Amino acid sequence: MNNFPSVFESIKDLDFQQIEGLLSLALKFKKREIDSPPFINKTPIIATSFLENSTRTKHSFAIAIQKLGCMYIDFNADTSSLKKGESLEETLLTLHCQGVDACVIRTSVSRELAKFKDRPPLKIINGGDGIHEHPTQAMLDLFTLKEISEDLGGKTLTIIGDVVHSRVSHSLIELLPQFGMNLILAGPKQCIPAAGEYPGIEITTDLDYAAERSDFLYTLRIQKERHKGEDSSYYDSYHQTHGLSLDRLRKLNKKDIPVLHPGPVNIGVELSLDLVRSANYQGYTQVENSIPMRMAIIQAILSNNDKNVGRPHGERS
Ligand code: NCD
Repeated sequence: MNNFPSVFESIKDLDFQQIEGLLSLALKFKKREIDSPPFINKTPIIATSFLENSTRTKHSFAIAIQKLGCMYIDFNADTSSLKKGESLEETLLTLHCQGVDACVIRTSVSRELAKFKDRPPLKIINGGDGIHEHPTQAMLDLFTLKEISEDLGGKTLTIIGDVVHSRVSHSLIELLPQFGMNLILAGPKQCIPAAGEYPGIEITTDLDYAAERSDFLYTLRIQKERHKGEDSSYYDSYHQTHGLSLDRLRKLNKKDIPVLHPGPVNIGVELSLDLVRSANYQGYTQVENSIPMRMAIIQAILSNNDKNVGRPHGERS
């Protein structure tokens, strides 16, 4: 894959060939057509640094790293010099000097990683930054959608729920239209963007209207921890207004529609238990697909030959 970015912070960092390259590499990993790449000179060392909670993303990266034959370091921010006031950049340069090749970072600060693009202290993969983006989640979701329907062109997907606070939705909105998909954003008015914010994307509070027009439903958690005192009065009636159950899908004539969710699910809020236990629910497949997709992303970032990584002043040769 040519010129894979050293800081993979946003879906916008990838061109279409790179996206397709990741899909085909992930498929090879999933089908076990290849196991791990031959690392010639040194076993790569990859760290994860989760400055915010995680189950799925952190562990799937940890497994992907080890399946690739890399050395894995779980960098614990709470016991690191970050707690003594060291900047993230100094910390990453320190890891670079210790031979770490790349770090997967989750942070609650939106766009915190963008500043590293000009002169990366280390290769960086965004594991979710605030409400900004979660590009590796969107890539594994695309992979899952393409497993269900190879040609996504002309298909409609509705993203349901807390779209404005969801970094996953922001990455999906960048990614899926590139494959010819139509998107609808649906949720309580406090959770959806203003009309016209995304040209060409329909925005509505009416879930039934959106679902009737959809080939896929992508549900989101209400991310209360990101609301910062905003009005969340809709929460108590959320399941009735915007939650999904098998009964609701039947009434909408959508009993076979695939329902995706990045996890973690609040059962009884965005999805009923019977739906999570049904064949409609794709959440477990998304988790399964996260491993080959993240293996592909790690391999791609490791194999770019960016000589600028870890050079704080740019004068060393
Ligand atoms: C998401 C996240 O943390 O951004 N989950 C995930 O990574 N699989 C979604 C969420 O927090 O609701």
